[in-house]
Amino acid sequence: MKILFVCLGNICRSPTAEAVTRTLAAREAPELALELDSAGTAAYHAGSPPDARTVAAAARRGYELSRLRARVVRPEDFDLFDLILAMDQENLAALRRRAPVSAQARVRLFLEFAPELERREVPDPYYGGPNGFEEVLDLAEAAARGLLAYLRRSARAA
Ligand code: 4NP
Repeated sequence: MKILFVCLGNICRSPTAEAVTRTLAAREAPELALELDSAGTAAYHAGSPPDARTVAAAARRGYELSRLRARVVRPEDFDLFDLILAMDQENLAALRRRAPVSAQARVRLFLEFAPELERREVPDPYYGGPNGFEEVLDLAEAAARGLLAYLRRSARAA
């Protein structure tokens, strides 16, 4: 199972989602053998490590992001990944415009997997204060747990 997390710059939200899901999957669902990656719909930060504030906030909760490097979404991603999970509606719309018809159903919102939050979007923390980075982590932890539960149910049903 291959999952791609997508935000705008690939330096804050989607690297956090990737690292949180990787850590929780290793601990709670190693049998799923997930392959995880992240990308941005915009290319401005391609090649850069994640935002220093994102790396620091994640490290305080035990998530390692410093080795990740930003990249833009590529056309072949729509063939390679089983799920392509957008952090907000704007990035969902950008992905839907680029995805072939055959991939549309695999393009979804990350927070769909945490319906108890009653939120659809992971807010962009880039121009806000430090609370924004904690909020991204809170939302990512909830959605990653929901995603792992969904994948376990799917694996059992298969
Ligand atoms: P991300 O956050 O989409 O969560 O990586 C952003 C990073 C950079 C910018 C916007 C959002 N930017 O405008 O440079």
